[in-house]
Amino acid sequence: MTAELGVGVIGVGQMGTWHVDAWERIDTARVVAVADPRETAARACIRRRPIDWHVDWQELVERPDVDAVTIAAPTGQHAEIALAALAAGKHVLVEKPIAAALEDGLRMAAAARPSGRKLMVGHVERFNPAVAKVAELVREGRLGRIFRIQATRVGPLPARIADVGVAIDLATHDLDVMQYVLGRNISRVFAEGTRFTHPSHEDMLACLLRFGDDGPFGLLDVNWITPEKRRELSVIGESGMLVASYLTQDVWLMEADGARTGWEELARLRGDAESAAVRFALRKVEPLRAELEAFASCILENRPEPVSAYDGCRALIAALAVRDSAASSRPVELLGMPTAPEDARVRAA
Ligand SMILES: NC(=O)c1ccc[n+]([C@@H]2O[C@H](COP(=O)([O-])OP(=O)(O)OC[C@H]3O[C@@H](n4cnc5c(N)ncnc54)[C@H](O)[C@@H]3O)[C@@H](O)[C@H]2O)c1
Repeated sequence: MTAELGVGVIGVGQMGTWHVDAWERIDTARVVAVADPRETAARACIRRRPIDWHVDWQELVERPDVDAVTIAAPTGQHAEIALAALAAGKHVLVEKPIAAALEDGLRMAAAARPSGRKLMVGHVERFNPAVAKVAELVREGRLGRIFRIQATRVGPLPARIADVGVAIDLATHDLDVMQYVLGRNISRVFAEGTRFTHPSHEDMLACLLRFGDDGPFGLLDVNWITPEKRRELSVIGESGMLVASYLTQDVWLMEADGARTGWEELARLRGDAESAAVRFALRKVEPLRAELEAFASCILENRPEPVSAYDGCRALIAALAVRDSAASSRPVELLGMPTAPEDARVRAA
């Protein structure tokens, strides 16, 4: 393999077009071909660039000049395409969610290992500097014991997502981020939700989560019924609260210990104490570009994928539990999360 990766992008609707544009800014890779059955989508994506178009993705994965593919076709097709690409010897970056069905995600994870190829899941928020900062601060113990984590991911109904609802399409982002930030798996979920305006799937969910047996609590608010897009993450611990905006990539820390308010009337409005707050100076980056760079590096330097198929399955399991809980109005226990074989070795050591 040369130092420059030949890349094929499969599915060039909204996300796939962003992939093609982001790949263009990465020195170690070059998009040689895209595949999409819709000619208008392919032409709009390629524009005047020297990129080939295939109607059939199978032709793309057979090309000898393609080292890696990124899959941004509808979620229900991820597994079939990823399994064929791995079998053809290609490295695979599959958009989140890894699949719509857990069996598909697990089959993909199992196929990647013997293939000797990388299989990474595009949980793009992992590459958001605000998420990385929150995870770092939590890991360093800046908040002390963690009490609660909360995520909000709401906005208007997108016209194009037809095959899955908000549990699989939106909640997978935050269920992955929350488990990553806390370094703990979700053990229990209780959700309420319904379908208000989506033609076939749930478009509103309100979820309570628990991490581990006695770990932090979680709150997750996801929907496609809000007129304005909001994407926020907050973590409360014994030493304070972190608040991050996924969109502006700002992270604030509010310390728990504050000065008592000496003015009684003001205390009615602002509470009995006021704490210090800091906004961190973060180098903002485009998360998708950072994700693709990390994918290219893990191939070229033969390092583990920064977001593995097992991570993708853990997020999917939690999302399926959220959906099932909302459908039955009952709590769902998550008895065991899949772990990559190397995770098991680390724990046993
Ligand atoms: N990481 C993120 O933040 C993020 C954001 C949006 C979408 N996504 C994911 O990206 C995927 C695509 O979503 P989208 O919003 O771009 O949808 P989209 O409908 O805009 O694009 C999907 C494209 O795939 C094409 N397609 C359908 N069948 C195909 C096939 N067999 N071979 C090749 N192409 C095929 C369609 O013609 C379409 O152009 C989904 O899995 C979605 O969950 C991820």
